[in-house]
Amino acid sequence: TLPPAEIGKFISAKHAMQEVRAGMKLGLGTGSTAAWLVKLLAHAQNNHGLMFQACATSTQTTNLATSLGIEIQSLDALGALDLAIDGADEFDPNLDLIKGGGGALLQEKIVESNAKRLVIITDASKQVDHLGAFPLPIEVTKFGWISTQRQVEEALKSLGLAVRTTWRGGPTQPFVTDEGNHILDIYAEKIIAPRALSDAMLNIPGVVETGLFIDMASTIIMGDADGTARFRE
Ligand code: A5P
Repeated sequence: TLPPAEIGKFISAKHAMQEVRAGMKLGLGTGSTAAWLVKLLAHAQNNHGLMFQACATSTQTTNLATSLGIEIQSLDALGALDLAIDGADEFDPNLDLIKGGGGALLQEKIVESNAKRLVIITDASKQVDHLGAFPLPIEVTKFGWISTQRQVEEALKSLGLAVRTTWRGGPTQPFVTDEGNHILDIYAEKIIAPRALSDAMLNIPGVVETGLFIDMASTIIMGDADGTARFRE
């Protein structure tokens, strides 16, 4: 038996499976909710002959999928994707997201921006009125990372936001992403204008991407421990 939070994740992944059609080109997300989807896809492929092509958004997902018998191809080999399915750390009423809690935000954003539809699988704990209680991850190049942090904090200050930032993994041995960059977590508390914040961050040369996924999600599926799911479109 699974803990209630895991049941909600499993239920949302199960509903997302109904969006998958034979022959589709899929983008597979990263995290504990996306892992349920990968397991369900592997089951459908191995036991029911479902055919699909897939690329992944992280080494972690590539390893899981491969271990279950799913062949992972590169995004470039697949080209435009029919559907991407991924988890999120927070979503708001506009279906804007914070992602990157697992550190895979850059590959996630590249893959998901190449998909006709992005389905987000979550549970009610991820639903917020305003993004920002979950620290916003931004991906920063190794070169000049401390100077980039200073520029980020100055930009946050001029937007009137709280300026606390921390390096994922700590300042002595910071976390390294699949692309060889670091992750700076921004404690913004309440993001009233996600687009303005994202643009301000992307304007800083050392910032590669942000975990704000704006106007990208097509549908959000919230799984519940009681076995039901709610949809936001
Ligand atoms: C990975 O980088 C993130 O964007 C994940 O999508 C996010 O952290 C959700 O993970 P869980 O499904 O484990 O909550």
